[in-house]
Amino acid sequence: MARLQPLWTPDDAVETTDPIAIAAFLRERDIVFERWPLPDRVRELAAKARLDDTDKAALLAAFAAELAKKSADAGYGSADVVAIRPDLPGVDDALAKFDRVHFHDDDEVRAIVGGHGVFGFFGDDGRQFLLTVEAGDYISVPAGVWHWFYCGEDKRITALRLFRDTSGWVPRYRDTARGVAQGPK
Ligand SMILES: [Fe+2]
Repeated sequence: MARLQPLWTPDDAVETTDPIAIAAFLRERDIVFERWPLPDRVRELAAKARLDDTDKAALLAAFAAELAKKSADAGYGSADVVAIRPDLPGVDDALAKFDRVHFHDDDEVRAIVGGHGVFGFFGDDGRQFLLTVEAGDYISVPAGVWHWFYCGEDKRITALRLFRDTSGWVPRYRDTARGVAQGPK
């Protein structure tokens, strides 16, 4: 279950695991949050130590209807599967690209099907909040929104990635883009 943690004195926001409250909070910030039902077959695939191309194709096929709808409604015309595991070669370097505050020129869209991770968000008002995402959580972070992402200590997450344009999905870091050193954690 997702968990939202505002990192400011909670005059108008409190930590919550209520998906309806989370979706409403995020919608005010143009971030889409949904819950996607997970078939048992998806849970089995997402729990594997390694996913081969056949497994990944099966995961995408399991969400064919949802992916077609997102393609039609939001223009996310392509998708793939990413499976982070603690013993993958280069996993720390791969994760290090995204745990600094950055934005992308395209939306960052993830449907989590196994494991968990944390998105951090850095608003233009300076307010920060964390969103822990787990299996069944779908999130679309709009292009240009400052954020960061990190895995739990287990470094284990499996997710569908939806794209409008894969060339737009390159991190632009806050410290280079704005000349501000920023430690998100
Ligand atoms: Fe990102």
